[in-house]
Amino acid sequence: MDFEKLSESRYSCRMLTDKPIPQEYIDKIIKAALEAPTAKNIQNFRIWVIRSQEAGEAVAQATKFTFGAGMFFLVGYKPEDAWIRPADGKNFGDVDAAIVATHMMLEIHELGLGTTWVGYFDAPKLQELLPETAGFQLIAIFPVGYPAPDAAPAPRHFERKAVSELVETL
Ligand SMILES: Cc1cc2nc3c(=O)[nH]c(=O)nc-3n(C[C@H](O)[C@H](O)[C@H](O)COP(=O)(O)O)c2cc1C
Repeated sequence: MDFEKLSESRYSCRMLTDKPIPQEYIDKIIKAALEAPTAKNIQNFRIWVIRSQEAGEAVAQATKFTFGAGMFFLVGYKPEDAWIRPADGKNFGDVDAAIVATHMMLEIHELGLGTTWVGYFDAPKLQELLPETAGFQLIAIFPVGYPAPDAAPAPRHFERKAVSELVETL
């Protein structure tokens, strides 16, 4: 898909099937993540591929936004490893991780799969249940699956602000 089509057609898919995802697709999503730019190329992010039933249940205990998915990606970063802008001390760890997560989200769509960026989860609880994630800031869960036959964008998807409200040419 060319980028214009990809960007236009992507939406938060909240009706997924749990049909297994081929390993080849998982590898492609990870490849897209690893190709993302990060400040100073520090690559201070971490991705967890949630495939086991036990880990999936941990995710389901931390959020109601699982949408019927059979697998998940979890994305996090370590702030202490990130680039800090000298002029104002801004830590770019969350920016880096968000770019990585966006690459993943777009690749998931490119593959004909569905997902939603889920930020509404109980991060401390998830870290308790998945101790491998301790010490990371967790920014996204992606429930991933094939879109269910009735899947469609939510009305909010179409609520876009005007260019004049968001963009200023100086
Ligand atoms: C950082 C972030 C966090 C989000 N968290 C959630 C969430 O927890 N649950 C959910 O259903 N959607 C979540 N969304 C999806 C947004 O609601 C959605 O992207 C927005 O309404 C625009 O719709 P669209 O993605 O279909 O274009 C999140 C999106 C982003 C970017």
